[in-house]
Amino acid sequence: MEKQNFIWIFIAKILIHMTYDTMKSPVFIGQVKIANRVVMPAMGVNLSSPAGGVSDDIIAFYEARARGGVGLIISEITRISDGEGIGEPCQLAARGIGDIPDLQRLMDAIHKYPTKLFIQLQHPGIMASPALIGRQAVSASSIEGWPGSPGRCLETNECESLVEAFIRGAEVARQAGADGVELHAAHGYLINQFLSPAFNLRTDKWGGDFEGRMRFVTEIIKGIKNRCGQSFPISVRINAEEAIPNGIRLEESARIAIALEDAGADAINVSCYSKGCIDPGSYPQGWKKYMAEAIKKVVSIPVISVCNIKEPEIGEQLLQEGVCDLIGVGRGHLADPEWCKKSFEGRKEEIRLCIGCMTCFEEICKPHRVKCAVNPVTGREREYSAPQKNGEGRKVVVVGGGPAGIEAALVLKERNFKPVIFEEKKRLGGALNIADKGYGKMIMTKYTDSLITQIKKAGIEVRYDEVATVEKIKALDPCGIFVACGGHPVKPPIPGIDHDHVCTAEEVLLGQTKPKGSVAVIGSGMTGLEASEILASSGCHLTIVEMVESLGPGMYPPLVENLMERIMPYSPKIFTMHRLEQIDDSGITIKNLPEKEPLFLPVDWVVLAVGGQPRAEVVDNIRSSFSNVRIIGDAVKCGRILEATQDAHAKAFVFEPL
Ligand SMILES: Cc1cc2nc3c(=O)[nH]c(=O)nc-3n(C[C@H](O)[C@H](O)[C@H](O)COP(=O)(O)OP(=O)(O)OC[C@H]3O[C@@H](n4cnc5c(N)ncnc54)[C@H](O)[C@@H]3O)c2cc1C
Ligand SMILES: Cc1cc2nc3c(=O)[nH]c(=O)nc-3n(C[C@H](O)[C@H](O)[C@H](O)COP(=O)(O)O)c2cc1C
Ligand code: SF4
Repeated sequence: MEKQNFIWIFIAKILIHMTYDTMKSPVFIGQVKIANRVVMPAMGVNLSSPAGGVSDDIIAFYEARARGGVGLIISEITRISDGEGIGEPCQLAARGIGDIPDLQRLMDAIHKYPTKLFIQLQHPGIMASPALIGRQAVSASSIEGWPGSPGRCLETNECESLVEAFIRGAEVARQAGADGVELHAAHGYLINQFLSPAFNLRTDKWGGDFEGRMRFVTEIIKGIKNRCGQSFPISVRINAEEAIPNGIRLEESARIAIALEDAGADAINVSCYSKGCIDPGSYPQGWKKYMAEAIKKVVSIPVISVCNIKEPEIGEQLLQEGVCDLIGVGRGHLADPEWCKKSFEGRKEEIRLCIGCMTCFEEICKPHRVKCAVNPVTGREREYSAPQKNGEGRKVVVVGGGPAGIEAALVLKERNFKPVIFEEKKRLGGALNIADKGYGKMIMTKYTDSLITQIKKAGIEVRYDEVATVEKIKALDPCGIFVACGGHPVKPPIPGIDHDHVCTAEEVLLGQTKPKGSVAVIGSGMTGLEASEILASSGCHLTIVEMVESLGPGMYPPLVENLMERIMPYSPKIFTMHRLEQIDDSGITIKNLPEKEPLFLPVDWVVLAVGGQPRAEVVDNIRSSFSNVRIIGDAVKCGRILEATQDAHAKAFVFEPL
């Protein structure tokens, strides 16, 4: 009986979770009612006007998220002044009355839905790119932001003008119809530079002790309340922790939160600086909850927790535990604008899951318009808004069911074609089924599962375990063929490459080959480093050989750091600027570049991770047998998920049948 009760309680708990009742419930920030507890936190997307201001593209971007049911959108960093105040090339602006009409256009678009929108007011301070602003950056103190570019310390009267600029920005936002504002006092930007002892070395009234460091932000809050009215809500985004010398720690951020509430803030949005601000995919969901918890304990205003949330049950759990009052789902909304709608309608498994690859952030830092690896429509909502539905049920064969083949099939299906996927393996996902084998990459498996669900839901025919031969394709008489056969690992023509103790990183990741003893991994791209971690942690003595100057060529540096943080404790030997020349029974010869000094390293195993190349035999065979062929994804050039899905979506979107 007791056991039965336990089972029922367990089932009831799961059901409560799956209906996400807390997440769905309304909440107030000040006097503004937010329809549910999900916030899309600020994300710079580079879609606005180059002169600073609203564009049709950014309206379409936000409107898609409002349509998707999110309770509160916090806009991207919005500049309050030009010159040193520019934080991003194509950015929203709230500088003065000239910005009101366009901002109002954005508000009107969002307010067609129950969603509320706060404008995030920001000044980059020392974080401004000198190349972008065309002058020296300013800051609370004369410290270095960009390497080699010390900032100019703001004069006392300039601090006053900047306080005024923030207040004016809030007035502009309110007059344009915004539901509130958020002050960006985190992530190392100007307000944060005043708040943090790591940046603020001033001795005048804008610095010195805790009160002095708080003055900049509290004057802004009081000014906004004065001019916009007590009922106009202000959220303040803070760093709960700064992983830098002399940075803010939890105890101090709790003190800051109390002072902000006293000054009139209506919500605290808890973030952090440096480590963990934008988490790589290997970080666990919800890991930052201790930060929000610490703030929630000391204030009575709502607390927003941005906590690496990818799946709704994690957000529901945090809310039920009382960690926070609202949850922030940032990249989750880049990956799927309908994150809320799908969660609330019990269609969680249809969510396109963010895999934490950080490509979105890497793109805007370039600075490009935002792109998402798993959702090619993100940032291109207008361009892809109306697919031509002229398929008339005609068949299109898709060769290969990796991310490129799946994306193409989904677009073709939406266009009323009848895609048929041939997949030679028993599972869809292609190289994702290898990519998910690195440590901490479970989210990749979930992403693959979500792609499979989308294919099933769209009713797309998949021929599993079937190689797409010319005869089989001909038998279907398709009006076009998409070749998404991917690539295979490169095996360079090096003496000794066919030895038995040579294998590929893919074989290691799949557990097909289990090298032992001393192992040299040749190549330090993502595949090489992920295999290195598996080898080192299984007891192998690891050597990494890389031809270029630094490890992880072509990879986004924070991802390399993340992997190396885990690999370095195994004390690997690392040879950068070295090329593999020869493999013998007892070891390898590598040459130092550019001097070309040979060096012999005795090793038991050699693991190749020197990149991939398209499966030319499949591509050539199909291209020479049919006329209406499109080659997509890694079959064109081996890259990442981003390139594969973008290429597939674009080509399927404009596909013309024979
Ligand atoms: C170990 C590893 C880790 C990676 N990690 C990441 C990462 O973290 N982030 C990232 O962005 N990218 C990563 N990538 C790269 C990413 O997985 C690929 O860029 C992406 O999968 C390419 O997609 P695709 O659909 O073009 O090809 P694939 O995913 O390779 O799919 C091709 C499919 O075609 C099938 N096929 C081939 N020929 C035929 C045929 N004749 N008939 C039927 N089926 C056929 C294959 O079985 C396969 O399923 C990684 C790759 C590897 C190998
Ligand atoms: C592309 C991108 C742009 C961002 N821009 C901003 C920004 O303008 N203002 C801000 O406060 N945070 C910004 N962030 C941080 C996010 O608001 C959020 O804190 C972070 O993505 C972690 O949340 P998530 O794991 O839910 O994505 C940005 C993040 C990304 C990925
Ligand atoms: S690009 Fe990667 S990290 Fe960014 S939202 Fe998309 S899946 Fe997530």
